[in-house]
Amino acid sequence: MEKLIRYSVKKLLEASSSQLVGTEINIKGWVRTRRGNNTLAFIAVNDGSIVHSIQVVAELENFDESTIKLVTTGSCISVNGILVESPGKEQSVEIQARHIEVYGTADAETFPLQKKGHTLEFLREIAHLRPRTNTFGSVLRIRHSLAFAIHKFFNDKDFFYLHSPIITGSDAEGAGAMFRVTTLDPHNPPMNAEGKIDFTQDFFGKETNLTVSGQLEGELGALALSNIYTFGPTFRAENSNTPRHLAEFWMIEPEMAFYEIQDNMDLAEECLKYIIRYALDHNFADLEFLNKMYDKELIERLQSVIEVDFIRLTYTEAVEILIKSGQKFEFKVEWGIDLQSEHERYLVEKHFGKPVILTDYPRDIKAFYMKQNDDGKTVRAMDILFPKIGEIIGGSQREENYDKLLNRIHEMGIPEKDVWWYLDTRRYGTAPHSGFGLGFERLVLFVTGMANIRDVIPFPRTPNNAEF
Ligand code: 4AD
Ligand code: MG
Repeated sequence: MEKLIRYSVKKLLEASSSQLVGTEINIKGWVRTRRGNNTLAFIAVNDGSIVHSIQVVAELENFDESTIKLVTTGSCISVNGILVESPGKEQSVEIQARHIEVYGTADAETFPLQKKGHTLEFLREIAHLRPRTNTFGSVLRIRHSLAFAIHKFFNDKDFFYLHSPIITGSDAEGAGAMFRVTTLDPHNPPMNAEGKIDFTQDFFGKETNLTVSGQLEGELGALALSNIYTFGPTFRAENSNTPRHLAEFWMIEPEMAFYEIQDNMDLAEECLKYIIRYALDHNFADLEFLNKMYDKELIERLQSVIEVDFIRLTYTEAVEILIKSGQKFEFKVEWGIDLQSEHERYLVEKHFGKPVILTDYPRDIKAFYMKQNDDGKTVRAMDILFPKIGEIIGGSQREENYDKLLNRIHEMGIPEKDVWWYLDTRRYGTAPHSGFGLGFERLVLFVTGMANIRDVIPFPRTPNNAEF
């Protein structure tokens, strides 16, 4: 087959492709559907560049029968043909095929995506093929865009991307159970005199795990470069089978020297709005598709979030609202409890009808590093709660006072030897500083309108699921 310039489907469907009309071009992609009769085949080809497929029209008499019969749903083909204006209303242009090469066949008897309309649950069982569906194509393109927008947002503000480690020797965050990293033989580990596993003989000479957060290392960066952010995978071994938890998820953790909690909230709100606007500006075709197929209020919801001021109130005020609401909650509300997703969503969806930033949580339910308020009961925490999601961001101003921090570490029984390096930042040139963590998949959930977090990451890691 003659070698011609290959165009993406996206390029060809863009208005600017009109100057290509009448020329012979090449496309490559996967066949979504094939319709037709005894003389013509209409082949919808998608290459993942855009949610739409391009129509290829083949006059059967011009093709070798043994080749054209292999052009079935799921097969991969390369097409040389003339780009022409399409007589159909569905598309502006289509391709009159001259030559077709079949790269890979897909047996109609066994190809799992033979028919349309599979459930999302079924597609999770074939995570290796689901990117070939329109739904996952859209989700993955949006996911990419959001990641890019995050880097752009911080880069434009002169923040530096800091790579925090994935393997860690500390569990200072206390955010949840961790995954052990070891090279010791699980069947025959070396034992010490106390009859315990001797981790001094392990790869790193100590116990190590996959990180639950890059924050503590992020703070080291911020107390040198002023403004940093991390963006990497984090791991939590909790057995929480919910539509909003993954065992492996990505988190963005900016950390800023000289920021107080108000500055932290301002940045977080600006950041979320910027990213969502970016998706509206750059992924409209995908959003329209998801809006039509899954969530009729999606685009409206995204637009409304970027237009309103987020509500800001204290945990204590929120608890009063919840108690007075007369609403029946599964978990009873009283001051001191960790708010459940039902409480968060009541505040956001029913009471205020917009995103909410809650501050000044009870110190007993928050991490050791949060700055203590003078009341002795609360800390300068801030969580951002979103419609349909609940908590999307968790953050705080950090305790910069060495003595207060050390006290808290002792109170919580954190071994000082695990965090001496963290404490050093408060001994040498400490500074007020703040930061937050944005759960990337929760953000993708919100922007795509999908209902389950397993459907917004290419290969979800959840309890009993690491097949692909
Ligand atoms: O509230 P978290 O646990 O906060 C931290 O880890 C802090 N170190 C962040 C910081 O201040 N730098 O987690 C932050 C966010 C949550 O708000 C949520 O969006 C997301 O991470 N998250 C999860 N997303 C998916 N699956 C899980 N299991 C998650 N746990 C937290
Ligand atoms: Mg949290």
